[in-house]
Amino acid sequence: MNDAPARPLLFTPITLRGITIPNRTVVAPMVQYRSRHGIPGDFHFAHLGKFALGRFGIVMTEATAVEARGRVTHGCPGIWNDEQMTAWGRIADYIRAEGSVPAIQLAHAGRKAATHRAMENTLPYGPEDVWPAVGPTTEPTSAGHQTPHALTSAEIREIVQAFADAAMRADAAGFDIAEIHGAHGYLLASFLSPISNTRNDQYGGDRAGRMRFPLEVTRAVRAVWPRNKPLFFRVSALDGADGWNLDDTVAFALELKALGVDVVDCSSGGLTGTATAAPIPRHPGFQVPFAAAVKQAGVPSMAVGLILDGPQAEQILRDGHADLIAIGRQALYDPFWPLHAAEALGCDPGFGLWPEEYGWWLAKRSQSLIRA
Ligand SMILES: Cc1cc2nc3c(=O)[nH]c(=O)nc-3n(C[C@H](O)[C@H](O)[C@H](O)COP(=O)(O)O)c2cc1C
Repeated sequence: MNDAPARPLLFTPITLRGITIPNRTVVAPMVQYRSRHGIPGDFHFAHLGKFALGRFGIVMTEATAVEARGRVTHGCPGIWNDEQMTAWGRIADYIRAEGSVPAIQLAHAGRKAATHRAMENTLPYGPEDVWPAVGPTTEPTSAGHQTPHALTSAEIREIVQAFADAAMRADAAGFDIAEIHGAHGYLLASFLSPISNTRNDQYGGDRAGRMRFPLEVTRAVRAVWPRNKPLFFRVSALDGADGWNLDDTVAFALELKALGVDVVDCSSGGLTGTATAAPIPRHPGFQVPFAAAVKQAGVPSMAVGLILDGPQAEQILRDGHADLIAIGRQALYDPFWPLHAAEALGCDPGFGLWPEEYGWWLAKRSQSLIRA
């Protein structure tokens, strides 16, 4: 009889298209405001590199703008030119060399462009710092925020192309997964919700009209993103303003899947006010039901939001609520989160998952501690 403990699902590899992810842990996209001219630098190398050393299965960049207008702050990175692409390439190569899968979140701030950092309550920049915000209409994201330019159909098609161009650069930079940012009230999310999208042309109106622009972006990115590389899409499962609900999300997720999206990443909120304002009370795993609903509909999903430790993450997978587990703030607190989760789940007693240069010494340290 084999009584070896079953391998935790959290540490069971998963293959999506041609990419094998060594475990189910993902660094959630987290903006850092540390770029200059949209170029990631040494900070990003160290910041993202340490998560690869911590053995996350996927290390995802922060929201990365597909055009200069699409940045939230002056410090947000982009991938709209070759200099940015080259800088990302060094980081993606290192993440892969450590055995993690490098992923990039492709984003456009839309109505929420040109604001200060979260630490400054995302207040709008003064007039001297402003670049034009764009959106479905001229309605600002909140009182006091910039009046956006209402995009014409031709301008929408230019942004679709900007996403596709960014995806091609992301591929050339060596990223193996791209995630389209369609959450938190940024450009694509602002088209989905009937609260922010009151257009009456082909890009507004009923749900099909409001989904048109995000789906065109998805189709264009999928067309240039290599067939062997997975494509993720992040949604706000609820917009936080009672305009877009979970039924809408499930219908949208099915459309995304039909276009070749491999995983729907289920966040919530942010349509008005700050991006971090989720619409429901926060408690550990508060957004897991959204990932569960999407998965239940037959679309692979990623759960995120106050997932704190290995046993909690393992239970989400065992319950069949999600396929991947994204860790945000807990990864800032503990960049070696996956390794500590493996320890907690009892599947790495000899520190074999650690970088050898650390694990060899930690195993010796354990023996010393036992002897002492
Ligand atoms: C510092 C920070 C920056 C964030 N930046 C982004 C971002 O660039 N794109 C995004 O989709 N979500 C962003 N988020 C949201 C996270 O990806 C995640 O969904 C959220 O923090 C909830 O997960 P957690 O409880 O594990 O932190 C950010 C969150 C934090 C804390």
